Order: sequence, then structure tokens, then C-alpha cells
Amino acid sequence: MKIFYDKSNFNKCLLLKNSIDIDKIDINIELHLKKDKIYIINKNYKNPVKVMVDFDEKDFTEKMNMRLKDNKDIFRKVFSGKNLDILDGTAGFGRDGTLLNAMGHNVTMVENSPIVSLLLNNGLKRSDNNIRLFHGNVYDFLKHSKERYDYIYLDFMFNKLKINSLSSKYDETLKLIAFIDGNKKEIVEIAKKCCKNKVVVKEPSNSISSLPKPNHIIKTKLISYNVYLSNDA
Ligand SMILES: C[S@@+](CC[C@H](N)C(=O)[O-])C[C@H]1O[C@@H](n2cnc3c(N)ncnc32)[C@H](O)[C@@H]1O
Repeated sequence: MKIFYDKSNFNKCLLLKNSIDIDKIDINIELHLKKDKIYIINKNYKNPVKVMVDFDEKDFTEKMNMRLKDNKDIFRKVFSGKNLDILDGTAGFGRDGTLLNAMGHNVTMVENSPIVSLLLNNGLKRSDNNIRLFHGNVYDFLKHSKERYDYIYLDFMFNKLKINSLSSKYDETLKLIAFIDGNKKEIVEIAKKCCKNKVVVKEPSNSISSLPKPNHIIKTKLISYNVYLSNDA
């Protein structure tokens, strides 16, 4: 990965270089830190694409407004209740967490990849969300946090890499800079101890999962939401 930065972002860039080995990340990824904007140019496409966490982007707001208007939206079924405290333990680019926040829930996010955290933090700062973001591994976060959440949401999921598809440039790019966790089972177990109500793990419907057996599953055509009851329930 190559990094381009201006004077005002020198410290951020230094911090990032101290926390990751940038040579291990795809050479076709460029990270740009320019004034108050942090974004990626992904050159794996014939026409390189810009990826920035921007909650005001037209496509994003249109999709979100559509889901907010839909009373049968899957999130309303999965996260039933009002004004819930939800921990999004695998925040990514914050799309699911922002939707839950817009549905009226109080959302806290955790993200372990330094680059994803940097991009997400930048997007949150430019938005009017009241979402808290912590950088780190959700397992350690839960081990040390005394807060209890109604729901803990985990989305470790990645779909197949489709380099030709411009529509999913966010997922394609996220996959190249994300943290891949091999500790899912332990995270689900600690989450069950640390939540008041339920742990929800998003998975592809056809996944041959190594996850513990859920109490129940809420399915759409492509996605399964594995639901685990809290150890206190
Ligand atoms: C599939 S993405 C989540 C996408 C997200 N739901 C969204 O709406 O944009 C998974 C994210 O979880 C992060 N992650 C994976 N394991 C983690 C862990 N143990 N703790 C915190 N973050 C983790 C990855 O770095 C990646 O950004």
C-alpha cells in the first residue's frame, strides 16, 4: 500500500505506519490523507475507484432511507425493541451500525483494522452521528468493558471477491484492508456473557459455519442472522 499525506496529517500517518506493516497490504491500494478527508484509491479496477466513508453520499442515503421506510426491514425483526443499546463489534465501514443508529438505537462500534478504523473515524467526524467508535479487538474490548449492551452484533462476513463489479467497491476494498478473525467462537461466547439480551452474528446463508449452534436463525435469501441468547436470559 502507498500512503499520500499533507502536513496536517503527518502525525496520523506516522501512527499508522507504526501500527501496521504497509508493505503487506496490496500494492494497488493507495491511502490518501488530505486535509479533513481520508480515502482510498483502489487501483485493482480498470478505472481506479475512490472509497471513502461518507454517510452523506447519495447512494448511501438513498439505500438507507429505503430501508428506514420499510416496516418489514430485516433489522426491525432481528433487533426488536426501541432505543436499544447495541454494540457493533465488527464495524467495518459502519453501514449496518449507522442504519441501526438511524432506526433509533444507541450504537457503539468497535473495529480492529487500523486502516478501516482511520477511514471510519474520519467518516463519523464529518457526519452528525452520535456513534462512539473504539479501535481494537472486540474480544479484548468485551473482556475489559463493564458496560452491558442489549444486543451485540457481529458481521465477520465477506462475500467472494468480484473485481469487475463496481457496485461493491466498498466490500472489495474492505476485504483488502480488514482484520480477518480466527477467533469467532470465543468472541461469540464472551459476547453471550456481556450482553443483556441477544448476540446476533451475520453469515452468508450457504456458510458451513464453525460457529457455536445458535438458539435460532433469522434468514433472508442470502443472509442468515444467527441469534444467541445472553447467558443471563
Ligand atoms: C464484513 S466487515 C463489517 C461490515 C460492516 N457490517 C458494515 O456495515 O460496513 C467486518 C469488519 O470487522 C472487522 N473485524 C474482524 N474481526 C474483528 C474483531 N475481532 N474485532 C474488531 N473488528 C473486527 C474487520 O476488520 C472488518 O472491518
